[in-house]
Amino acid sequence: MTWEELEQSCRTCEKCELCRTRTNTVFGVGNRKTGILFVGEAPGEQEDLKGEPFVGAAGKLFDRFLEAVDIPREDIYIANILKCRPPKNRDPLPAEEDACIGYLQAQIDLIRPPLVVCLGRIAAMRLIKPDFRITKEHGIWVKKDNYEICAVYHPSLLLRDPRRKPEMMEDMKLIAQRYAVLKGLGY
Ligand code: URA
Repeated sequence: MTWEELEQSCRTCEKCELCRTRTNTVFGVGNRKTGILFVGEAPGEQEDLKGEPFVGAAGKLFDRFLEAVDIPREDIYIANILKCRPPKNRDPLPAEEDACIGYLQAQIDLIRPPLVVCLGRIAAMRLIKPDFRITKEHGIWVKKDNYEICAVYHPSLLLRDPRRKPEMMEDMKLIAQRYAVLKGLGY
């Protein structure tokens, strides 16, 4: 499948009920040849309105972490587990994740990134393991299929609990170090 075919099928998707309440699908943005893919949970209000991931308050905080560790946002690709906003930003339902995960899998297959970073526990529970504990296991890399994967705190959690920001900074520094190695390899 090409990017264009994938994006078109996602844009018109009616695989779950969220298609009835969305303003826009939020497919994903960024460098399709990147070495590093970041995966969040689901679009929020601003993302639903604009059709782009991480453009609201959490996204702005995430941008500051990227800047602090010198990873240009244009270098990376950002997508979510769910492409449509759950009403009132409730957690995704398992059936919604099941319906939607094929789009993310296809994005991973097209990008083939050596590194994947989950933003928050919902993405980590889906992509790393169902019993992932974000407070204990953030920043720990594991090998999966064709890539290495870790999770960091979701920026929305950091907005609610700023005391966790130093841990996020440490994780982001290590991510940036790995990314710098990849850049040396031509990514
Ligand atoms: N939170 C997410 O998980 N994804 C977004 O795109 C925005 C907020």
